[in-house]
Amino acid sequence: MERIIFLEEGADLDALSSAYGVLLLYPDSKLFKPKYLSKRASEVFKDFIHLFRTVEELPEEFELVLTDTYHYQEYLEKYRDRIKSIRIYDHHPIKREGIEGKLEPVGSATTLVVEELMEREIDISPESATILSLGIYEDTGFLTYEGTTPRDAKALAWLLERGAKLDVARKYLSETLSKEQIDMLSKHLQSIESYFLNGKRVVIVVIRSEEYQSEVLRILYDLKEVRESSAFFAIVSAGQKTYVFGRSLKGEFDVSSVLERIGGGGHTFASATKLEGIDAQRVKSIVLSLIKGERVLLKIEDIMSYPVFVLHQDMKVRDAILELSQRNFAGAPVIDDSGRVVGIVYKKNLLKASKHYPERQVKDFMMGDFHSLSPEDFVWKAEDILSHYGEKLIPVLKDEKLVGVVTRLDLLQGIKAQTYELKAYERRIKLPPHVEEISREVGKMAKELNFRVYLVGGVVRDLLLGKKVWDLDFVVEGDAIKLSKRLAEKYGVSEHAFPEFGTAHIKIGDIKLEFATTRRETYPHPGAYPLVEYASLKEDLLRRDFTINAMAVSVNEEDMGTLIDYFGGLRDLKDRIIRVLHPLSFVEDPVRILRSLRFAGRLGFKLSKSTERLLKSAVSLELLLSAPKGRLMNEFRLALREERIIEILELYKKYQVMGQVIKGFQWHPSLEDGLLKLRGIVAWHRIEFPKEAIDYGWVYLLFLLKEMKTNQVLPLLQSMSAPSWVRKVFIEVVKDFKSVQMALRKAFKSSDVYKALKGRPLAFLLLLMTVDDIKDRVKLYLEKLRFVRVEPKEFVGLKGKELGKAIEDKKLELMDETYALEKI
Ligand code: CTP
Repeated sequence: MERIIFLEEGADLDALSSAYGVLLLYPDSKLFKPKYLSKRASEVFKDFIHLFRTVEELPEEFELVLTDTYHYQEYLEKYRDRIKSIRIYDHHPIKREGIEGKLEPVGSATTLVVEELMEREIDISPESATILSLGIYEDTGFLTYEGTTPRDAKALAWLLERGAKLDVARKYLSETLSKEQIDMLSKHLQSIESYFLNGKRVVIVVIRSEEYQSEVLRILYDLKEVRESSAFFAIVSAGQKTYVFGRSLKGEFDVSSVLERIGGGGHTFASATKLEGIDAQRVKSIVLSLIKGERVLLKIEDIMSYPVFVLHQDMKVRDAILELSQRNFAGAPVIDDSGRVVGIVYKKNLLKASKHYPERQVKDFMMGDFHSLSPEDFVWKAEDILSHYGEKLIPVLKDEKLVGVVTRLDLLQGIKAQTYELKAYERRIKLPPHVEEISREVGKMAKELNFRVYLVGGVVRDLLLGKKVWDLDFVVEGDAIKLSKRLAEKYGVSEHAFPEFGTAHIKIGDIKLEFATTRRETYPHPGAYPLVEYASLKEDLLRRDFTINAMAVSVNEEDMGTLIDYFGGLRDLKDRIIRVLHPLSFVEDPVRILRSLRFAGRLGFKLSKSTERLLKSAVSLELLLSAPKGRLMNEFRLALREERIIEILELYKKYQVMGQVIKGFQWHPSLEDGLLKLRGIVAWHRIEFPKEAIDYGWVYLLFLLKEMKTNQVLPLLQSMSAPSWVRKVFIEVVKDFKSVQMALRKAFKSSDVYKALKGRPLAFLLLLMTVDDIKDRVKLYLEKLRFVRVEPKEFVGLKGKELGKAIEDKKLELMDETYALEKI
């Protein structure tokens, strides 16, 4: 049977060298062509490509060979039918049944392969010996790293005897840093933190990039701060995956005991794990809790609700609704006579069914195809199910028996608990003078009341982007209304308070100040209305949408101007990335789907890979349809007001959200083309006639809607509270757009154009300008014809209607004389 070696994404030199060793060991083995290797490994691979036997197509049956990793699960899932056996060479040993190969604690995986070459007395060329030596050198730090064993040295000696070249090793492993590496390092160094636990120093770093860069780690390992610590944890988020690497540097700390808890393997010195669907910052908080030996809610059994309320499959729809309503539950697992879970049923579906079939049974309306969890699963598995499949309630089964359920709320609470250890990244920032002056006053007043107060959300983002800000949003750890009242008194301005939301706003000069109380929403039981309580700043920030919108700046006297960033917002701002704080963000508030695209369009940012994946799922689950209509439409209106509306609409198109915002809407190529034209037209109008400027967003909307049916468009405009002119223009477009175009085409003289366009609203004219052949005629009208004037003095003796007609006739004559009409 053929042996196929797989290398993991971003595999390092040790993995590549040991894979090469396997090729030498087994002539029938081949390397599955790797797509993405670490920088060093890919250099070596490129230079020695002639020595590697690679394949791109997999045979029907093969033995899976892995080197420097023991994660075989994902390959099994992908190629279950083809993999007949598994062989692993890894020095992060974890005992597994039924696996061939070697899993032993030495300094490099290559050592294990070389030992086998030695045992079998396979002769190798100097070039091959060189390639193999690279893996040992790299992973043992030239035989100096903790975890290096005499076996590594022996293997290396054997390779040197076979002619391994030292100058080649120096070439690939030289330690000087390139400018890019220094830049990269300086970016990551901000996030390096040291903690002292029982007299031991633990260093932890979070590295976020959309691409996996394994050299970063190698460079970090060489930092003095890291080298001298007892343990070092690197949390690397790359795309949708988060890797955690742990290294114990003086043998004082068992890193694997920490990482084992989150699915990792390895040994005391070095351990690693790969997680999906969980953000790096959250992993950091979890790792910290684990290091400190605190209880962390990691597993489904830690967060699930039980005992579980269930419905029997034979129960009548009517009765089931009653049962669910009495308990205020949105749904329940359905069981059969033997107590086995056979489906999930939601009240919403039962209510629909009850109109026609109140006497039918629950089993007729339940979802028979559902996901389930085991109490041992990690919490993020449930988040993944919830965010990608839209289930609201996931049964937890142990040995096929129902032991609990997990709901959105259980998960949100779990997420909150898992960010408990997060410390904010803090840094002083300079506020513009007008913001600083007023913020100082706010801080002073808060101090008198014994509150703390922060600038928060979009205003912080805009300050960091260097934008002008006039609307200041504050959150108050304390009573926001009281604070705002005091300030209003002091400045002699009026105050508007909304006690039911705990918010208030005032205006001082040109600056609007809005105060909200930091809050947390808790639910006494699932489905109930939330109770709003005071909360910490961190909790307040955690319920926000994107990392760039979840930062605060303290305006308290002691630390005035300190940026507080728990979730890596500053870094995302620099990297131009929109990232949700947790996987349930879009489920929690689907309006955020549109918000993310608005910010991405406005700022020219990208969605992070995981955010993009979550957004795509949210769209395919049609979550926007269940969003509160008023808020959704308000968001759409905000988008239409944006300067870069076209970019936003392009994103709407790319992510297929329009059909969910506007029922019945469909893109066609002429719309896209037309939008670009309209942008030019709007820019032209804005510059030529600044005094006539209108809310152009509506013109864009009218353009998109103009081919749609009136009975779809009018309710939409109403739901958006569109001004009445928008509605009028739409009706006029439906009625006259075509005929006016015809009239313009038939026009012989300027006065014909004038007659066709006179009295038409501006938006109508701008829309007409998107039609190429008549554009210049409309432009002529807007620029010239409509301004042609004649002096009434010329018409002495005429009055009233007669005068009016004479003036009009003269005007037409004059424009025909002055402006010749170009042919079309
Ligand atoms: N927010 C949120 N989820 C939403 C809406 C708002 O988390 N669906 C939070 C964000 O932290 C946001 C803040 O509330 O920054 C204020 O919201 P808003 O005023 O709507 O947006 P801004 O971010 O200020 O954006 P803009 O510049 O468009 O006003």
